[in-house]
Amino acid sequence: MKYALIGCGRISPNHIVAALNNGLEIVGLCDTVIENIKDKVVKHRLPKNIKMYTDYRIMLAEMKPDLVAIATESGKHASIALDCIDEGCNIIIEKPIALSIEDADKIIKKAKEKKVKVCACHQNRFNKSVKKIREAVEMNRFGKMFYGTAHIRWCRDREYYDRANWRGTWEQDGGALMNQCIHNIDLLRWMMGDEVEEVVGMTDRLLHSYIEAEDFGIALIRFKNGAYGIVEGTTNIYPKNLEETLYLFGEKGTVKAGGQSVNIIEEWRFSDMLDDPEKIKKEFHENPPNVYGYGHTPLYADMIEAIEKDRNPYVDAEAGKRALELVLAIYQSSATGCSIKFPLTKCTTTQFKGRFTAQ
Ligand SMILES: NC(=O)c1ccc[n+]([C@@H]2O[C@H](COP(=O)([O-])OP(=O)(O)OC[C@H]3O[C@@H](n4cnc5c(N)ncnc54)[C@H](O)[C@@H]3O)[C@@H](O)[C@H]2O)c1
Repeated sequence: MKYALIGCGRISPNHIVAALNNGLEIVGLCDTVIENIKDKVVKHRLPKNIKMYTDYRIMLAEMKPDLVAIATESGKHASIALDCIDEGCNIIIEKPIALSIEDADKIIKKAKEKKVKVCACHQNRFNKSVKKIREAVEMNRFGKMFYGTAHIRWCRDREYYDRANWRGTWEQDGGALMNQCIHNIDLLRWMMGDEVEEVVGMTDRLLHSYIEAEDFGIALIRFKNGAYGIVEGTTNIYPKNLEETLYLFGEKGTVKAGGQSVNIIEEWRFSDMLDDPEKIKKEFHENPPNVYGYGHTPLYADMIEAIEKDRNPYVDAEAGKRALELVLAIYQSSATGCSIKFPLTKCTTTQFKGRFTAQ
């Protein structure tokens, strides 16, 4: 299967490794900064004659890849995705799939028309721990779900924001919730049954005065099934990443997944006693080298199979839109002081420009 990558920055090594691990034929790498591509070619010992492009449109036209991954700044995801779909390419879009509901809808609509697959890169859904928890949800082991909580207590310093000036801007990124916390926000919504009734949120910029968007956010969610959710996320934790934690509380089950990025099952209590909690905690305990984890390789494997078998990918564009919708609803609630009822039919990060004036 012919594969190409657009955007060879910080997260691109995870994509290149996932492509190599899955035996994809890398037919082109694209970045507007050619040094970024060259750097990855050396780092991953790719063939020296690999095709490098600074214009993805030329790459798509010349190489006609079957699968393209988009890992540019978030504000460019939608326009690049729509161009790829026009060329008939299946795509993996880094999170968030877009920065507005309207753009996410356009991607979903066009992909259907052109009969191509779209995968949203929420790779934590493939964490061993997360898959085990999802299995328990699907088996209804929790009974009636009461509530779930998502905590993202991470640290991003000035150097991180200075290294790429799009980070923390409303035009290209959003803040901590849209960039760092969206993975766990996705997991919370998915585990709690996806259907949200309403959201109340508060966001603030407490530390990073030089970014436009929030570095702290909290939210209360009421799901249609009567359960509740709590989100608490920040990039302000001193002095380094502390944890990304997901708790689920039901009538017959209590689960906690923790570690730096929900890689470790720390609590596993079910009234059905189907398994030994100590064994589960031992078995579902991964310690990846960074918060991106090991999920890109299985996400790629699933997407390749989805293309080959003509089925939906495990994390499709609708799933990407649901995570985006929840973050945008928190932004809207914070800005207006109102509770936001779902669905959110129109909203974009750029409407929050000026909310915290950058210094
Ligand atoms: N899944 C994850 O865990 C994860 C982790 C980090 C980042 N991300 C997401 O990945 C995306 C990229 O983040 P990053 O930290 O790697 O950013 P980055 O700034 O390090 O890399 C982005 C790259 O895209 C290139 N680029 C910009 N416009 C381009 C264009 N038109 N054509 C080709 N290349 C272009 C830039 O030159 C840069 O090299 C963001 O959307 C971010 O939210 C996801």
